[in-house]
Amino acid sequence: MAPKFQHVEIVREDGIAWTYLNRPEKRNAMNPQLHIEMNQALDYLEADDETKVVVISGAGGNFSAGQDLKEYFRALDGDPAEGKRIWLAANNWQWNRLYMFNKPTIAMVHGYCVGGAFTHLLATDFVMTAEDATFSLSEVNWGILPGGMVSKALVDTVLHRHALYYACLGDPFDGKEAQRIGIANFAIPASDLKDETAKLAMRLMEKSPAALRATKQAIRQVRQMSMSQAEDYLQEKKNAIRAKDPDHSYESGISQFLDDKSYKPVYGAFKRQN
Ligand code: COA
Repeated sequence: MAPKFQHVEIVREDGIAWTYLNRPEKRNAMNPQLHIEMNQALDYLEADDETKVVVISGAGGNFSAGQDLKEYFRALDGDPAEGKRIWLAANNWQWNRLYMFNKPTIAMVHGYCVGGAFTHLLATDFVMTAEDATFSLSEVNWGILPGGMVSKALVDTVLHRHALYYACLGDPFDGKEAQRIGIANFAIPASDLKDETAKLAMRLMEKSPAALRATKQAIRQVRQMSMSQAEDYLQEKKNAIRAKDPDHSYESGISQFLDDKSYKPVYGAFKRQN
């Protein structure tokens, strides 16, 4: 049984853990309790054998209206110690935990995705959005800047001009625009969003978990490295897959291609042993 929370709901189906921020009456604005619970939820899901792919979304038709202006900002403004504790909890799950999560992660966006919600949006590996979702970097419109990790994650994801335009104007944009500027992988009619997200998750589950984990972590880590660091890191990461992969992916894949002639890597995943 997945744990129960006040502001987070986990529904596990066929290897997918649908993980919903669950404050629909507040458009899933993130308050301190929600941040504490999301840390617990991700700890659980990373260790859970039934969970192969984690989808992060929001209950009630919205992704998230960002940090809670009342409970995260105003209430903590006069309490620096508690403010720091909650800021660390928020950054931990929204960025650190998701960025290097051991399993593939997908953000499924519908309704509003605002402000601080961009941190976990951009930390996930893939973004599937409804065409009619509404994204907004609203911070400039109420006197702050895109904090948490939003500004940094944004410039790492989209072209500089797009980052400046949307952060400085705060203009809302839809899912199609999110796809055009590189925030989302696919913009989909809202009625098909969940099915298409599940299809992507199923395709990810066909891969060797060890090879997939190493690949996503390598793609993230090499961005910050020099050429020689990347060369060394990638060589060792490749060795690590072979040393620790219960699927013996490398040997299986090569053998199925060369000996059995049963598949071609360009067109799909090899047949896993586990
Ligand atoms: N923080 C705290 N409360 C929020 C919130 C937020 N970020 N976003 C929405 N809510 C609350 C509203 O205050 C309202 O509460 P109430 O019913 O007690 O009055 C409730 O959620 C519903 O919001 P409402 O504005 O009536 O819904 P809407 O569908 O008309 O508009 C938004 C949705 C997201 C466009 C609008 O609520 C909004 O602009 N929110 C602020 C988003 C923002 O700038 N976030 C950045 C934080 S980093």
